[in-house]
Amino acid sequence: MATPRVHDVLLVGLGAVGAIYALILKRSGLARVTVVARSNYDAVHNHGFHFKSRKYGEITGWRPDRLVRSVAEAADRPYSYVFLTTKAIPERMTTPHLFNPFLSSPYVDTYAQPTYVFLQNGLNVEADLYHALINLGKGKPSIVSTAVWIGSNLLEPNVVEHNHFDKVTLGVYRHNDFTAETNTPAEAALLEDVGSILRAGGSTITIVPEVQRMKFSKNLWNVSFSSLAALTSYRLPAIFRAPPSDPSVSYTPYVSPTTADLITKYTIPNIRSALQELIVLGHAIGYPDTPNGLPSSIVDTVIENTRKLHIVPESTHKPSMLLDVEKGQPIEVEVIIGEAVRMARARGIEMPRVEMLYALLLVVQNQILRKLEESK
Ligand SMILES: NC(=O)c1ccc[n+]([C@@H]2O[C@H](COP(=O)([O-])OP(=O)(O)OC[C@H]3O[C@@H](n4cnc5c(N)ncnc54)[C@H](OP(=O)(O)O)[C@@H]3O)[C@@H](O)[C@H]2O)c1
Repeated sequence: MATPRVHDVLLVGLGAVGAIYALILKRSGLARVTVVARSNYDAVHNHGFHFKSRKYGEITGWRPDRLVRSVAEAADRPYSYVFLTTKAIPERMTTPHLFNPFLSSPYVDTYAQPTYVFLQNGLNVEADLYHALINLGKGKPSIVSTAVWIGSNLLEPNVVEHNHFDKVTLGVYRHNDFTAETNTPAEAALLEDVGSILRAGGSTITIVPEVQRMKFSKNLWNVSFSSLAALTSYRLPAIFRAPPSDPSVSYTPYVSPTTADLITKYTIPNIRSALQELIVLGHAIGYPDTPNGLPSSIVDTVIENTRKLHIVPESTHKPSMLLDVEKGQPIEVEVIIGEAVRMARARGIEMPRVEMLYALLLVVQNQILRKLEESK
């Protein structure tokens, strides 16, 4: 049997998700892994990374094959794959700007472009890199899009906590094409190669012919519930959980009976309406109202699944947008919600509730950015 090829792979963004995928890539034995770490470079260089994973165990002193401080430093060799695991905050830095060393001389004159693999949440995160690659005039860009299901948090710059699963749905990025039903043989081979590396590293992989709809479906929760938490500063039990009935159990938040009827009458129906606005957009984009497309029933599923998770005393999950607001870090407002608003406007679709969420989050983001600029 032929020995599987070992690829040079770069991962940019050694945060909560990046650390787990750097580990998975290295565990695969199919990748020589270079990692760009920014603020945590010294911590990882000096002490290695510490994983507290319910799936992969307790691992201390972990290092990739090569750790570098910047994309410029990494741009000294060709890579098969470049994984992007930063937060998508185009207001601070666009992806072409981040990858400028790969998109300019001497890199472009010396090496072939890699396949870029986006492990970021949000809509159209791939678009500006796609245009930058088109502008290079070196042929069709090779971009893999993903929807990632994982729960991981950075506890310290080089310590990550990870729950018991990581799942990735993979598909090729096709600019402005949301309805493809099959992968070409070349696309299928590319996805199988990326998928086989991640699978060998322990991750759970699904390959699909059209991935944007998966990202759109996943984004529904972020637009509705993550926004609500970020705007109200409360975790989601604040709209779902009854007060403790057993005196030996205490928790907050819960819905005070005083105005619980108003939450039921106004808050949850407005979230439902925001989700329904997004479904209208999704169908206008071209996703069919079918189980493999964007079924209208997903609105009830999203609300019910969220309710089930957050009515119980054990609910401790904090939506990432709320976490970012609390830490004073920029939120992914543009790719999670701004892009949905722009796609709707471009199609003449009105989404008043989603636009209102966007308008309010813009103020939150603006203040986060102002404080970061003041502290420079
Ligand atoms: N966490 C989850 O459970 C989860 C689940 C599903 C999807 N996602 C998505 O995955 C993506 C990453 O999220 P995350 O939670 O891993 O974020 P994170 O913990 O904030 O990590 C982002 C990392 O990217 C680094 N970075 C940012 N800009 C950089 C640059 N120019 N050069 C080098 N490194 C840079 C940051 O370094 P600095 O410290 O220097 O800023 C940080 O280490 C997001 O799109 C998120 O929505 C996350």
